[in-house]
Amino acid sequence: MIYSKIIATGSYLPERVLSNQELEKIVDTSDEWIISRSGIKERRIIGETQSPSDMAYNAAINALESNNIDKSCIDMIIVATCTPDTIFPSNACLLQQRLKLNNIPAFDLNAACSGFLYAITMADAYIKSNMAKTVLVIGSDAISHYIDYTDRDTCVLFGDGAGALLLQQSDSPGIIGSELHADGGGETFLNVPGKLKNGTIHGNPYIHMDGRAVFKSAVKSLSQVATALLKKTNYTKEQISWLIPHQANIRIIEATANHLSLPMEKVIVTVDTHGNTAAASVPLALDMAIKSGKIKRGDLLLLEGFGAGYTWGASLIRY
Ligand code: UT7
Repeated sequence: MIYSKIIATGSYLPERVLSNQELEKIVDTSDEWIISRSGIKERRIIGETQSPSDMAYNAAINALESNNIDKSCIDMIIVATCTPDTIFPSNACLLQQRLKLNNIPAFDLNAACSGFLYAITMADAYIKSNMAKTVLVIGSDAISHYIDYTDRDTCVLFGDGAGALLLQQSDSPGIIGSELHADGGGETFLNVPGKLKNGTIHGNPYIHMDGRAVFKSAVKSLSQVATALLKKTNYTKEQISWLIPHQANIRIIEATANHLSLPMEKVIVTVDTHGNTAAASVPLALDMAIKSGKIKRGDLLLLEGFGAGYTWGASLIRY
């Protein structure tokens, strides 16, 4: 049986820290409200001269260097992003060029905040079907580019960053199983409605979110997908070593953990310092937990994502 095994992880966070105290000066909000409603204390914001593909490149280099991987083994690049540098070419192609990995397939994938779950599931399918041996999977987003910093409903929640992971063919797991879902009926609750047409943006170019509706759907979908995946793979919630959920709101994370009867000690939390970094959120959390020594080889990981679309998914992985 062919499996996809994690051989390296990496991450990148921009230097600029945007604190709740700074946001208090910009919009009618408070540190107390933001922490109690979302768990977020600060987030990182991409530099003026940086682009989302720069963050992806830095995360990829971090994964390669911190694990002594020779980049020539990479035979496919998938970048999960909803904030590409340009409409085309894709950030994956920009990254391929910077890594000097000519001729290998490279493409972007947009499933918003669930993008990384979609990307590793796709990488796993390519590896299992022997169409790729080592896939570089990136989650990278500069959501701040689409934030209206006069809109307190959204500007306190999001941050920027990138996470990277290398999946390689192996005889042992690896990715045990994954579940992906989408419901286009979620369109109006979380979107960037503006459309680029004939040289002009038609409509609101900033993130619009109905927070309460998204919150309810996120808790319901993340709980359901975790249960379905455990059932499908014949694992029990007691066997999970670590839950690595999408980092949107500590209350969503707590509700999901509660549904699985998992104590918060078994949940990786970075939302306090990263905010919601969209497709970067899960790989950033994963890399932080591996580098800090929390996650160890052999641990059973449950990764989960939820985002615009709606889209959601989960992956059960033996690290
Ligand atoms: O990646 C997936 C995408 N995003 C998510 O998963 C986020 C999902 N939603 C959430 O995280 C939460 O719904 C929020 C953090 C956005 C809001 O928390 P909530 O407990 O659902 O608050 P609420 O929407 O019920 O709003 C409570 C009040 C409202 O005032 P009124 O109508 O009760 O007078 C808001 O206007 O809080 C007000 N409010 C704020 N107050 C201070 C909204 N934003 C702010 C703010 N500061 N930044």
